[in-house]
Amino acid sequence: MSKAALAGKFITFEGLDGCGKTTQIEKLAEALRVDGIDVLTTREPGGTEIGERIRAVLLDSRTAGLDPWAEMALMFASRAQLIAEVILPAINSGKWVLCDRFTDSTEAYQGGGRMLESEPVLQLHKLLCGDLWPDLTILMDSDVAYSVQRARRRNQITASSDTPDENRFERENEAFFTRVHDGYLRIAQREKKRVILIDARRSIEQVHREIVTVVRERLLAVQREQIPRLAPDDKAR
Ligand code: TYD
Repeated sequence: MSKAALAGKFITFEGLDGCGKTTQIEKLAEALRVDGIDVLTTREPGGTEIGERIRAVLLDSRTAGLDPWAEMALMFASRAQLIAEVILPAINSGKWVLCDRFTDSTEAYQGGGRMLESEPVLQLHKLLCGDLWPDLTILMDSDVAYSVQRARRRNQITASSDTPDENRFERENEAFFTRVHDGYLRIAQREKKRVILIDARRSIEQVHREIVTVVRERLLAVQREQIPRLAPDDKAR
């Protein structure tokens, strides 16, 4: 798939559970909209009606016993649908798509966390996702211990086993999240041009300002003529 043929931009956010991606996506979307950019936000797994049904199967802790390969296949099923139904049409019509997680999540969680390795993930991505990669990926780096703590809290709040929940991944232990974290760092090391590592241990506003700066440098600089004004930092405060 030729990137040159695509008019909009595609930005993904990655990181451990609880690193603050969702808040940062909303804040970036708001800042870009102020500058007149048509922004669409979405998430994985999910983002389409079919994808949200797949998400329910994937994240519900009642889906214990899901084989890691089946888990990976479902992640890609949701993604293929999202690309066809949402991401490509949006980019082709000039929109900027901000997506909460994408194939790097599969490489970190299934490749690293579940130890399926990176190669099958990249092969499936080529086969099922037309090898579409983001223009920019914001990898929000946070502490493994924080993710584990948050997971415990979330599990305590929704302890009942017969109601649907989204806690299946959050039941994983520290060793799992450490492998996910290592997987992410390896991706950042390999994909230096696309993946920007951002320290998410700081305040929401500090992190937001850094993200705006990165987006400005990486993606807006080449579009200055189309986009007259960039969100000044003080708008973000
Ligand atoms: P979600 O509640 O959306 O987590 P977060 O708010 O932290 O993004 O749940 C998504 C979960 O699915 C999360 O634990 C990561 C996992 N996941 C994978 O394991 N592989 C994938 O390819 C994707 C997209 C998500």
